[in-house]
Amino acid sequence: MGMRILLIGGGGREHALAWKIAQSPLVEKIWCAPGNPGIEAHAECVPIQAMETLVAFAREKQIDLAVIGPEAPLTLGLSDRLREAGLAVFGPSQAAAALEGSKSFMKDLLARHGIATAAYQSFTDAEAAWAYVLTQGAPIVVKTSGLAAGKGAIVCQTLEEARSAIERIMIQREFGSAGDTVVVEGFLRGEEASLLAFVDGERVLPLAGAQDHKAIFDGDAGPNTGGMGAYSPAPALTQAMVNRAVEEIILPTVRAMASEGAPYRGILYAGLMIDGEDLQILEYNVRFGDPECQPLLMRMRSDIVPFLLACANGSLAGMAIDWDPRAALCVVMAAQGYPGDYPKGDPIHGLAAAARHEDTMVFHAGTRLQDQQVVTAGGRVLGITALGDGVAEAQRRAYAALQEISWPGAQFRRDIGYRAVAREPSA
Ligand code: AMP
Ligand code: GLY
Repeated sequence: MGMRILLIGGGGREHALAWKIAQSPLVEKIWCAPGNPGIEAHAECVPIQAMETLVAFAREKQIDLAVIGPEAPLTLGLSDRLREAGLAVFGPSQAAAALEGSKSFMKDLLARHGIATAAYQSFTDAEAAWAYVLTQGAPIVVKTSGLAAGKGAIVCQTLEEARSAIERIMIQREFGSAGDTVVVEGFLRGEEASLLAFVDGERVLPLAGAQDHKAIFDGDAGPNTGGMGAYSPAPALTQAMVNRAVEEIILPTVRAMASEGAPYRGILYAGLMIDGEDLQILEYNVRFGDPECQPLLMRMRSDIVPFLLACANGSLAGMAIDWDPRAALCVVMAAQGYPGDYPKGDPIHGLAAAARHEDTMVFHAGTRLQDQQVVTAGGRVLGITALGDGVAEAQRRAYAALQEISWPGAQFRRDIGYRAVAREPSA
């Protein structure tokens, strides 16, 4: 009998996961809660959100493995509830998810265990935060400690900007309780890269490197978003850098979590800053990056299900991932106004034409079906992802498919992958 899988989430990352899991010969049936119209092609979508209902559903359907996509249910303890019900779960416990859910916890853990990270202090009082900023000077970074959908870190070039960031987070409470505590952190220069790893409580198996573009506008300008595009491999992440990141940062963190009674199981995403030989950890996420997941899974040749199971069961020893040597690149199409307010319900045209492009996937993020028509339903709407011989070719192919798709006010960056393309020999 094949496996029965329950996937939690309904964004672009979960569409990529559903697509990849559905290719496994080990799998008999996938449910996705809540899913989206793209995921419908690979899984039965069920409109369940509440934690108790999810646990009851998983028991009733005799799920063999639950795979939790987004950070919110992880930080609320969904994996603990499912494990208590006797189910295998891919995803960290609530205690381990604090690596993402509380930046002050994460920074304190790194400091306690001597893992290098930018100088920082945490504050619950705006005047105290401001006094610290004055002692440090600008540039400086002011962050909500809690979850803010990738928008809670404000890089401040001047003291005035830092003052306004503290006011927005702590006085105007723009991010609600996520801003109860702020972390004020030294500004780091360099190039960012994402290194994701499967972790089984003890062992760390890194994936291929990836890079994303967080800013809304071309040239990495404007406010940060959840991510406007991503690609793999990432030239900044040489094998030597990957080894160092595992040895100096990720493995020590995994050991630290185990030693403090919160062993980490699932995918651990390290947001790294690389400046020459200098390597620092900016942030941890406790789930696949979105959109990094989309190009990474298009490059993953191995069946993903044994890796998900091994993380859940503590049995990653001896496993290795087979990667497509080609590059993959994902361009996000977003609604007009994102990352601010945006309209919903606009009919999306050209999906069928884009789907005919070879080695290309149109992953759905914020979409829904309305009278048989796919319409926009979120800020980030689609992630057009293509494989190619090198990042430049993957980029050309992703944009070629993207040109088929339209709705009023659709916005996307025209330069996803520019750093990697500039480094390719043929560029
Ligand atoms: P975070 O949510 O901590 O990953 O921050 C989001 C983004 O803000 C990062 O991807 C960086 O682009 C930027 N950022 C965060 N912390 C720093 C820092 N200490 N120095 C420079 N840029 C940063
Ligand atoms: N793409 C960045 C993130 O998933 O947080």
